[in-house]
Amino acid sequence: MVSGSDASSKVIVLDFGAQYGQLIARRVRDLHVYSEIMPCDASADEIAAERPAAIILSGGPASVYAEDAPSVDPRVFDLGVPVLGFCYGQQVMATALGGTVGHTEKGEYGAARLLRTGDAQLLEGTPDAQTVWMSHRDAVTQAPAGFTVTSRTETCPVASMEDAGRRLYATQFHPEVRHTDYGTDMLKNFLFQICRLAPTWTMDNLAERMAEEIRQQVGSDRVILALSGGVDSSVVAALCSRAIGKQLTCVFVNHGLLRRGEPEQVEEVFTKQFDVDFVHVHAEERYAKLLAGVTDPERKRQIIGTQFWNEFFAVAQKLDGVKWLAQGTIYPDIIESGARKTGGRASTIKSHHNLVPFPEGVSFDLIEPLDHFFKDEVRALGTALGLPDPIVFRQPFPGPGLAIRIIGAVDAEKLEILKDADAIVREEIDSYNARLFEETGERNSEHSVWQYFAVLPDVKSVGVMGDERTYARPIILRAVESSDAMTADWAKLPYELLARVSGRIVAEVPGVNRVAYDITSKPPATIEWE
Ligand code: XMP
Repeated sequence: MVSGSDASSKVIVLDFGAQYGQLIARRVRDLHVYSEIMPCDASADEIAAERPAAIILSGGPASVYAEDAPSVDPRVFDLGVPVLGFCYGQQVMATALGGTVGHTEKGEYGAARLLRTGDAQLLEGTPDAQTVWMSHRDAVTQAPAGFTVTSRTETCPVASMEDAGRRLYATQFHPEVRHTDYGTDMLKNFLFQICRLAPTWTMDNLAERMAEEIRQQVGSDRVILALSGGVDSSVVAALCSRAIGKQLTCVFVNHGLLRRGEPEQVEEVFTKQFDVDFVHVHAEERYAKLLAGVTDPERKRQIIGTQFWNEFFAVAQKLDGVKWLAQGTIYPDIIESGARKTGGRASTIKSHHNLVPFPEGVSFDLIEPLDHFFKDEVRALGTALGLPDPIVFRQPFPGPGLAIRIIGAVDAEKLEILKDADAIVREEIDSYNARLFEETGERNSEHSVWQYFAVLPDVKSVGVMGDERTYARPIILRAVESSDAMTADWAKLPYELLARVSGRIVAEVPGVNRVAYDITSKPPATIEWE
């Protein structure tokens, strides 16, 4: 396990399969206390070995009465460590300690009115009546001996309970959810008043300790990483660089489909600023040959993906003694791939192994140091490690690169046009976003543009430039607002900005005489054109 802080100030979240189990750990980290999750079936000994300062039992979808209902090793309550349970976590605590859980007549979903029924350390400083977020059918009907019932709702007789003597606390509602008005205050009460923790954990000390963990894990072995220049792989590279320096080989496969200036920037950062073994694979010509004349979008993607691993393993197999493959998997990747059901690192490692198409007879052990973290935490870690802003705050960029923004067959001339147009789009919208950042202080304010690029369709149209008829290509501008790429809306960019982008592209990019703006949301369109 990655220890991000002094073992004695770490909060372990036992995950009972909550949809957003990591959200609890994340809220704790937001309060500057280190937290990570473990699967709920970890034994009390395994948990104690982590020397947690506190344990939180997450919610979960099961009924405690179900045959295979996940439970907790009851010795967890005898470790002398404060325990806090949420929702299913409260029911597990009640069941383990002799209380009862029943089916309420109707479940309770969404906002509920909470009424306090007595003194409560956990609810200290919060109002007698307040709004909380509920999502349950079963509920505790009788608290275990020694517990005080500290609040109720109309349908839930034990909305929270505590045994302050044994430092055991639980709520039926979800304090980790923003809709619980005083949820953060309750977490603060638990961490700072009850557990007496200090809010001292920062990304800087996390970076140092994660690096130490990697050092111990890999010893003197070699590690290899496919570095794309994206945020996640760059942060892993920076972290491994701090941990093991030149024992890390970063393989940067340049397929010639990257944006203007990007390969140079990645090479500069990872040869001058970070001490790693950097291999720049110039695969541009091989890709150009493979893609020549290919028009089908799926075929293009397949060729690019397959060739990527061919190029990567060709380097990997030439290096001696590589035992580990580092990957920039982050927590939302795991959620999206549906890989993790009950939490914990072991299950992650297995499922993600399958995503890398190892050639016959080749295998590496995986290191995925970011698999507990959300994107914005990864960015903060990148900054703490000294990565420059253009990499840390880079907009999403697809693996197949510009090939899926050139409609129809890719060739060198079209690539040049698209790279030039894309550079102008980025320059203009980057400075628009920077102005918004200055005004709002938020790097991703609700008005800032999330992803923005140029697309080159496979058509030509008539125009007139300097009294001469032209027959040239259009560029389509795509700019969207989104938070997770699952849905997106086209950005309502100011007309002046659109005019400047259009004017510059037509004036500065040879072979382009028209610019159109894509005003379609996702769905029904997708963000990319192919
Ligand atoms: P779509 O076009 O599906 O894109 O709305 C959603 C997000 O995913 C990015 N994207 C990719 N990223 N490999 C990637 O790493 C890919 O093959 C790929 N295809 C799309 C896209 O840029 C957008 O942010």
